[in-house]
Amino acid sequence: MNTFRIRIDGQALEAQTDSETSLFTALARAGIAWPVSCRNGTCRTCMARLLQGQVRYDIPWPGLSAEEKAEGYCLPCVARAVGDVVMAKV
Ligand code: FES
Repeated sequence: MNTFRIRIDGQALEAQTDSETSLFTALARAGIAWPVSCRNGTCRTCMARLLQGQVRYDIPWPGLSAEEKAEGYCLPCVARAVGDVVMAKV
């Protein structure tokens, strides 16, 4: 299984993840605090903006519009990395 890096914009911290682990879970395992609530892609508490990299979802309609996805917003509680990512909290 491939492993990827998650970096938070403006922070020296980084987490390791893989294609099956949500970004939020990977951050939590690395001890990096990130806001979370529903953990199922509906409440948008965890919402982030991808500055680099791409994610995928196992659920068809995470709580983001097509426009938001196109603009680089993601929901780390249900997003999985497909490569190294850099993201910022919104
Ligand atoms: S925690 Fe609710 S959408 Fe991520």
